[in-house]
Amino acid sequence: MKITIVGTGFVGVVSAAVYASFGHTVFGLDVDEKKVEMLKQAQVPFFEPGLSELLQEQQSKGTLFFTTNYQESISQCEIIVIAVGTPSSSQGKVDLKYVYNAIESMAPYLQENTIVVLKSTVPPGTADTVIASIKAKSSVNFHVASMPEFLKEGSAVTDTLHPDRVVIGTDDTSVFAKLSELHQPMQAPIVQTSIASAQMAKYAANAYLATRITFINEIADLCETNGADIQEVITAIGYDKRIGSHYWYPGVGYGGSCFPKDVKELVAYSQSVNYMDSLLARVNSINDTRVYRILEKLEKSMAGFQQKKIAVLGLAFKPNTDDMREAPSTKVVPYLLEKGAIIKGYDPKALETAKQVLPQHENLTYTSSIEEAIHDADLIIALIEWQEIISYPFANQVATLPIHFFDARNQFNKNALQNAGYIYKGVGR
Ligand code: UGA
Repeated sequence: MKITIVGTGFVGVVSAAVYASFGHTVFGLDVDEKKVEMLKQAQVPFFEPGLSELLQEQQSKGTLFFTTNYQESISQCEIIVIAVGTPSSSQGKVDLKYVYNAIESMAPYLQENTIVVLKSTVPPGTADTVIASIKAKSSVNFHVASMPEFLKEGSAVTDTLHPDRVVIGTDDTSVFAKLSELHQPMQAPIVQTSIASAQMAKYAANAYLATRITFINEIADLCETNGADIQEVITAIGYDKRIGSHYWYPGVGYGGSCFPKDVKELVAYSQSVNYMDSLLARVNSINDTRVYRILEKLEKSMAGFQQKKIAVLGLAFKPNTDDMREAPSTKVVPYLLEKGAIIKGYDPKALETAKQVLPQHENLTYTSSIEEAIHDADLIIALIEWQEIISYPFANQVATLPIHFFDARNQFNKNALQNAGYIYKGVGR
């Protein structure tokens, strides 16, 4: 098959490389010339394990191309996948301008019976306006389907090659057959739904996971009031098959480019259909302020942050990525600076992003190792569970002062750190 993927962000590049690895001819299309030039050299503009190697492999086989030219790519493809970003606008509502820009730019070059697949996360109802936009610029017969993406950053290649399921939103038998054939090599269950159900499934999956995390964060907070240990509680309830303990750790709140945005959008959507008493509105507001409540407690236990030397370890929003969208560090670092702390930040991959995203401040410097960051620190914050951070032998360091240690992901052995002289604080333990 010949496929164009419009948008070379996370989802676009990974999908393009994976479809090419199944033997199809794939064009990755983007309006950003600089990005396209990098991708042509198999250079990925962000860090994602295994992606650069996969790009190199497919490009050298001659099945994967990157271009800025709509006419060249769209006019020879039978499947067009829209994978552009759908950021939140300031009111929480999703901003679909990139989707419509892409649709308007590609519509004039569509061939007869092309399938246009919406992979970008868009609210139910978007397909109707997409169809109308295409019709305004093209007179060919075409189909629109929805295929939401469920990959996670940091494991995007593996998640795409081996998804838990593939959801294909279409009522058309021939479209379903074609898209099923495309995904056959993944050997995953294929679920056929309507377009609206596919789009709701995407929002529902992210909203459920975000709610589950918010729930366990609340139980963790309650544990702190009575001496219970949240990790023991998770193990105890996780054996119940209806609950399970997979993908369930408490922390300072969920972040990243998806959960906060999609929960906000579902809240905005609920309000637009007069569903005002939304559970998700509460999930969103609890998560937004959570990290500040935790920092206030920490601040009290240290008698303030003024002039305190603090090592912030883990600046990306999660391990194995340099993405800092809605990363906890983007709340933690400004808060600490505001309170007069002197910060050394460290991250295995996100230092360059951090220098652009975090405030420039005389009290904020970056280090190239954990050792340097924690040297002389009054407080160590292990914010993100990068392997390098969680396997660092903090307990073997000779603690010359009573050093405070905040384990924001409950990754460390509490007793070992306490025995080594740290004043340990986890989440819900
Ligand atoms: C998330 C979903 O997991 C993917 O299925 C989905 O495709 C993606 O959003 C998307 O919509 O594009 P992602 O944001 O890459 O993926 O990362 P996750 O690993 O799910 O983590 C999201 C946030 O939740 C992170 O801040 C993480 O630290 C936090 N989290 C996750 C917790 O606090 N506790 C957990 O138990 C799990």
